[in-house]
Parts: sequence; C-alpha cells; structure tokens
Amino acid sequence: MQDKLKVLLIGSGGRESAIAFHLRKSPLLSELKVFPGNGGFSDQEILPPNSFNVLSKESVQSFLKQNPFDFIVVGPEDPLVAGFADWTAELKIPTFGPDSYCAQVEGSKDFAKSLMMEAKVPTAEYATFTEYYSSLNYLETKKIPIVIKADGLAAGKGVTVATTKEMAINALKEIFQEKKFGESGNQVVIEEFMDGQEASIFAVSDGDSYFLLPAAQDHKRAYDGDQGPNTGGMGAYCPAPVVTDSILEKVKETVFDRMFEVFRKKGHPYRGLLYAGLMISPDGEPRVVEFNCRFGDPETQCVLAMLDGDLLELLYTASTGKIQGIQASVKKGAATVVVLAAKGYPDSYEKNIPLNLPETLGQNTYLFHAGTLKKDGKVFSSGGRILGVVAYGSDLKSSVSQAYSFLENIQAPKTFYRKDIGHRAL
Ligand code: AMP
Ligand code: GLY
Repeated sequence: MQDKLKVLLIGSGGRESAIAFHLRKSPLLSELKVFPGNGGFSDQEILPPNSFNVLSKESVQSFLKQNPFDFIVVGPEDPLVAGFADWTAELKIPTFGPDSYCAQVEGSKDFAKSLMMEAKVPTAEYATFTEYYSSLNYLETKKIPIVIKADGLAAGKGVTVATTKEMAINALKEIFQEKKFGESGNQVVIEEFMDGQEASIFAVSDGDSYFLLPAAQDHKRAYDGDQGPNTGGMGAYCPAPVVTDSILEKVKETVFDRMFEVFRKKGHPYRGLLYAGLMISPDGEPRVVEFNCRFGDPETQCVLAMLDGDLLELLYTASTGKIQGIQASVKKGAATVVVLAAKGYPDSYEKNIPLNLPETLGQNTYLFHAGTLKKDGKVFSSGGRILGVVAYGSDLKSSVSQAYSFLENIQAPKTFYRKDIGHRAL
C-alpha cells in the first residue's frame, strides 16, 4: 500500500460528511478534497464550484488528468450508474464504488430483480412491463396491497405501495402516460407487497470477500409514528435488533454470498459497497426490497460510528486488493442519527434558514452537515435534510437520549425532526 493518500470524496450529503470525518482520522490520509461538498467542509477541502460535471466522462477525466488524486470515494449513486468508476479505471485511479455494470443493481430495478432470480436471492415476486395496458391486465390478476416501481433512478420517489387498486392504476398512469419519472419510467416493475420490518445492511466488498457493517433501521416517513410522506430518511439507529444473529447468518448466505457470486460469474466482481434493503417477515425470514450501490443516508452516519478500524484503509484495500487480514471490527454499544429537516420537506420548503450551531459537542456526539452552505463564515440551510446529529452510547437508549439532548441546543427556525427515532427497538 502507498504511504499516504490524497483523496477525493464525491458528494454533498450527511453521508459524505460522516465518511469524511472517518477518513480524516486515518494516518494514511495526506489530503482530503471534496466535491461539491457542503457547509460543514472547510474552504481548503472544497474544490471550486464547477470544477467538473460528475456525470460527464470527458469533464471528469480532463479534471483528473490535471488534478491527480491517489484515491476517489464516490458517495452518491448517480455518478456510479453513469460510469464514474469505469472512467477513473481508464485513468488507473483507484476508486471506491462499483463499475457501471454492477451499479445497475441500483440503476435498474428490473436488472436487480433478474439478477436476484438468477442467484436465487429471496425477494418479492414480480413482473416487468414496458407498456401501460399489459401492466393493467397483470394488475387485474393480483391482490392488493401491491407495489409499483419505476425501473430507473427516481431519487427515492419512484415507488408506490398501493393499498387500493385506484392507487396502483394511478401510479401506472403517472409513470407510463404522464412520464412523471422521464426515462426512468420506460419500464415498470410490479411487485408483491412484503409485510414486516425493514433493515439496511452494508457490505464493503473487494470482489471476493466482504466486511459487514452492523444492520441499521432507517425511518423513511417524515413524521412521528411513521406518518406522512416518504423521505430520503429522517433518522436511523444501529445495530437493529430485528436482525438477530440467526437472521444475519441467513442474510449472509442467501443474499450477500449469492449476489457477490453472481457478479463474479458475470465477469464483474463487485468492488465497493453493496447496500441490501431488507424486509424481515414477522416469522424472521429476510427478503430483499432493493439494493443500492453506495452507502445509505442517513444510516451511514450512525453505522460508521460503530466501526472500529481505519475506514480509509478498508475502502482503499477493497478497491485495490484483498480486505482479508485488515483490522476492522464492530464496536459494542449503539449509535443513533436524527435528521434535522426544513419544515415542509420532502415537499416544498424554505432555504437559507440561518443556523445557530453549538460550539462544543458532547462526548461521542457528532454533528454532520447535509443541506447547508457557508456565507461569510455563517451557516445557512440549502436543502431539505439539513443536519444529522449522531450519538454513540453503551446502549440504544443512551445513544437516543444523547442525540435528542444535543438537538435541543440547536437554534434553527422553520425546521423539524422526528422525536421517535429508535422507537421500534426501545
Ligand atoms: P425502494 O426504493 O425499492 O427501497 O422502495 C422504497 C420503500 O418502499 C421501501 O423502503 C419500502 O418501505 C417500500 N417497499 C418497496 N418495495 C416493497 C415491497 N415489495 N413490499 C413492501 N414495501 C415495499
Ligand atoms: N436511507 C435510504 C437510502 O440511502 O437509500
């Protein structure tokens, strides 16, 4: 391994703030740059605006030829699905994140489902359609609730869990006829509804073996009691006790081992992070809801607080060599993240809210910026999910109460946060 690494981190969310926090602790880091970043990064770390277009091969490659980096960590899915890791591979720059073939596991629900079928990974029964009337005929033969999914990336908004036939028909109309998700809706997956509790599990893979991070549970609805619209995630905690040791063993065998094997069989060993979104049935059977090709947000903010080891070493080695033998383990205790969001999120909300942030953090408490920006040294909101407050404690109860007592010190008008993060496990 090289002595010290100059690292470029791509992204601007709470996830990237958390990843950066852990990368900075590594003795292997010489310099960290971020693009586009957010108000939590220093001016020295953030690359100038318009440095490059993350979705354009030409722009990315020409920037990197002029600005060499030893290692790149890609936070969000869009660049990976577009081929970012293929472009950097051509320049021989080690990159954490799968190639565009593997990234289809998130970029196309039909791709993910057919790979799961081939690999015999447990998931909901489904059918794929490219046309409205045949999808409608299929719907007529199915029970309600049923799940309608636009095939491509839709920023988490392409899924409808339809509790009435009208809702399902409406979702199909929106995708096929009104083109609500553009090209992402050229195909539709109609899927059996799965009952149970959700959990997210992240595996860092070098193509052959993988390191599992502890299971987390996200809270996707905007308001307390799992009410209100779906969001990117309002808070999470880990480990999630719904994933017992025996369920975790099943997930390893029937989900991760089988998926990584099928990727190898396809000639594309999966290097990077594979996120399994699982539904754990009331009788303890895990099935896959979705895969993502990157760290989850906000889950990563609490999951990384449980990592005992050098994140930079783990990600760099996964991208360039073999992770077996790396000293990384999972801490005892629990971690929680609570997201502070702008009132109105995920629909319309105000930006430029002035944020008065406490100078000092408590022990084992971390403040991660997401939708923020700095103007003349002051911090303002610039997005819907503004901040993540993370607390690590000896158990879930103490980490939850630590996170909430810190949130009380933040002065930010026109914001809100869920008061019940962790409720299923407390
Ligand atoms: P996805 O974008 O595929 O993760 O779906 C977003 C959310 O919709 C998931 O987190 C689940 O809450 C819900 N969902 C998706 N597929 C199903 C399913 N087959 N059964 C029940 N809920 C689902
Ligand atoms: N929190 C859900 C996701 O990252 O997709």
